[in-house]
Amino acid sequence: MSDTWKEKLYEPSDELISVENVNYKRIEPSIQEAESDELIAIDHVDLSYKGNTGSIKALEDINFNIFPGEFICVLGPSGCGKSTLLKILAGFIQPTGGTVKLDGKEIKGTDWHRGVVFQHPPLYEWFSVRSNVAFGPKMRGIPKEEYEPKVEEYLEKVNLSEFADKKIYELSGGMKQRVSIARALINNPEILLMDEPFGALDALTRESVQDLTRKIWWETGKTIFFITHDVEEALLLASRIIVLSRHPGKVIEDISVNFSRQVVEEGSTDVKFSSDFYKCRERLLRLINSQ
Ligand SMILES: Nc1ncnc2c1ncn2[C@@H]1O[C@H](COP(=O)(O)OP(=O)(O)OP(=O)(O)O)[C@@H](O)[C@H]1O
Ligand SMILES: [Mg+2]
Repeated sequence: MSDTWKEKLYEPSDELISVENVNYKRIEPSIQEAESDELIAIDHVDLSYKGNTGSIKALEDINFNIFPGEFICVLGPSGCGKSTLLKILAGFIQPTGGTVKLDGKEIKGTDWHRGVVFQHPPLYEWFSVRSNVAFGPKMRGIPKEEYEPKVEEYLEKVNLSEFADKKIYELSGGMKQRVSIARALINNPEILLMDEPFGALDALTRESVQDLTRKIWWETGKTIFFITHDVEEALLLASRIIVLSRHPGKVIEDISVNFSRQVVEEGSTDVKFSSDFYKCRERLLRLINSQ
């Protein structure tokens, strides 16, 4: 894959404000007409759940495109519809209004084009790490001689080669999460959907899987849609941050950020001590807390 996607991620938008590493974009519903190279087009999406006490509107008029190679982090108060949006992208549920298209085709159900990583990865506890990673390609009928080298490649990518023969129940939380990432990536999905994947991990482990995810993103150019509660995590990983309002979730902020790029280029997360980072974090926190 050529590296031009990296440059495109950080093209300046029309409206720049004083924070140096952030391009604040006004949300224009016309974006979809203006651009045509999107991977996913989310067009006027509404989602209402039917509950016992009537219907609950979880998402209202969600409208944005996802472009190849973007690392999108979604922030928003609890219950605002983040997981609902991810489930729509995964094809677990259908929107009650509007459409979601991947490569121009409406998403109608789940398939391996979209890899999903959850907070508590549903792994096969009694299988080895290697068998868990091999599971997807095996089920898809890919010949053994084709997928076996890939399994080793992805185990190496997530630094689990030496634990390949361990059973899942023998692993730590961070290791399980890495198996889950390898298991999703081996199918070469067009997008990786991650729902608070590191939410249950301790701070140190969390930092190390963040590093790994950022590295995999930067090396593979994989498009990532990542939900988190943690503003700092979003700023250290994303190329773009989307904030949803309190329920029913609407997009209230959509910004490009390049702190993650600095982390990759400098090989350190020291950027989080900069005043730009601080300003941006405060602004996002204020926005979320004001909901
Ligand atoms: N299966 C369901 N049936 C009915 N209502 C649901 C269902 N799933 C979610 N909801 C409701 O939809 C709204 C959005 O839920 P969702 O899980 O998407 O929020 P979230 O932003 O992911 O929250 P959190 O940050 O706590 O994970 C909430 O009001 C929730 O109660
Ligand atoms: Mg959620």
